Amino acid sequence: MSENFYVTTPIYYINGEPHLGHTYTTVLADTLARYHALAGERSFFLTGSDEHGEKALEVAAERQETPQQVADHYAKIFREVWDTLGIRYDRFIRTTDADHKAVVQSILQTVYDGGHIEFKEYEGLYCVGCERFLTDRDLEDGLCPDHERAPEKRSEANYFFKMGKQFAWLSEFIETNPDFIRPDRYRNEVLSMLKEESGLGGDLCISRPKTRLDWGIELPFDEGYVCYVWFDALINYLTGIGYPDDPDFPALWASAEHLIGKDILKPHAIFWPCMLRAIGLEPYRHLNVHGYWNVDSRKISKSLGNRISPLDMNEKYGFESFRYYLLRDMSFGIDSNFTEESLVTRINSDLANNLGNLVSRTLNMVKRFAEGNVPEPGPIGDLEREVMEVAGRLPEAVDREMRATRCHRALETIFGLVDAANRYLERREPWKVAKQEGGEESVRTTLYTCCEALRITAILLSPFLPLTAAEILERIGQSGELESAQLPQSAQWGGIQVGAATQKGDPLFPRIDLETIGESGA
Ligand code: MSP
Repeated sequence: MSENFYVTTPIYYINGEPHLGHTYTTVLADTLARYHALAGERSFFLTGSDEHGEKALEVAAERQETPQQVADHYAKIFREVWDTLGIRYDRFIRTTDADHKAVVQSILQTVYDGGHIEFKEYEGLYCVGCERFLTDRDLEDGLCPDHERAPEKRSEANYFFKMGKQFAWLSEFIETNPDFIRPDRYRNEVLSMLKEESGLGGDLCISRPKTRLDWGIELPFDEGYVCYVWFDALINYLTGIGYPDDPDFPALWASAEHLIGKDILKPHAIFWPCMLRAIGLEPYRHLNVHGYWNVDSRKISKSLGNRISPLDMNEKYGFESFRYYLLRDMSFGIDSNFTEESLVTRINSDLANNLGNLVSRTLNMVKRFAEGNVPEPGPIGDLEREVMEVAGRLPEAVDREMRATRCHRALETIFGLVDAANRYLERREPWKVAKQEGGEESVRTTLYTCCEALRITAILLSPFLPLTAAEILERIGQSGELESAQLPQSAQWGGIQVGAATQKGDPLFPRIDLETIGESGA
């Protein structure tokens, strides 16, 4: 039986349009899902929208609409944006979907019946931005540091999930499964959060009285309350793959990989494993936590007006170039700084000068010296062997990085072959050899080697840059290749079809002039 790969993004709040931050996580999930499918696994990619909670009510008040209208409006926009950008999710889940509501209610009942919920009076500081109670330690100068606003003091009778009694188990689980939460820095952060929270008892308020908030899923055991938005939202990861009855559920769940930004570490690393245990399910396989994108060294915020739109980027640079930049420039787990200058520099150096150049030089020469067809190679020498060795190491090296969610390193590795092929061309100088007596065979070998390096590059690049990869394969006459490709076999040396007709085409990535980009703004 083939392996499974289940990847999720956070489900996004319906309080604005997708920006750079959402786009990053979504592109990352798309790339991983495509990679695992290419590796022959059954992959399932879930994304969606988080529609309940007070934030939705705030937006509804601003827009003078009902929360349902707001939810419909933004859920549609998110979907349309991902569709426009070629994001290939398997399901777009909305927390207002009927199946999700039913699953949340049945889970609430199970957890309640299991004795994990109690009813009591509570007073605390609530941040609507985070949609959760904060502790004094979370605050900076009395304000929520993420939302720069003071939390409200709230006191009311509510239902609490007794998650604190699971902290000992959870700490031990995290200690003994070192890559459960990765990279390491977040695992350590969670372990110290758990120590701190243990002292506070660790109860999680999971209800809101309808008198204050009636936009949510009703508690099955008390119609006066709705379910707290995070409790409802996390369960999307189960509903999305057909919990509890779908026959595929167990296998997919056992392979669950959550992708999140560091802002929502606590709900995913603490609430969620405790909830799963109370439900009677195993924890997810990995929590993969990425850092934050800043824009021109500042936090992304509505008020600063620096919420880079993926549609603008698509229009200005082409989505594949933007996608490449996001995946290549962020070291997984660490914050990154978005500037248009670094974006353009990255496109020019890697895509235009390096990859694009290899494609156009190779195909120009195939046209000039081999009638436009992939040539039959002659005997090979040390220089060919060097390129073959670099290519030979790629599938395993890329696989290792992808299984650790390090796309930036996987791309760096793949571009090692592009570099090697460009260097090889410089050393073989087929444009000179072609003029020498009897040089034809050497030229054919050189061009075959470059075409084959391009084929392997394109296959390995296809999860990252699906359109570019397809275009390269088409130009080197191997257009059907991606449909049946499977790693690692398809990336092994020697798979190119000799004699296939190639097409030169326009430059894949025209160089962008840095001077002109500032004018239109992002
Ligand atoms: N609705 C919750 C998630 C519930 S999941 C069960 C939520 N939504 S959100 O719309 O605020 O999206 C948060 C996610 O968007 C982050 O975890 C991250 O994936 C992405 N990003 C939002 N801003 C970001 C940056 N500036 N940089 C990188 N990613 C960030 O939280």
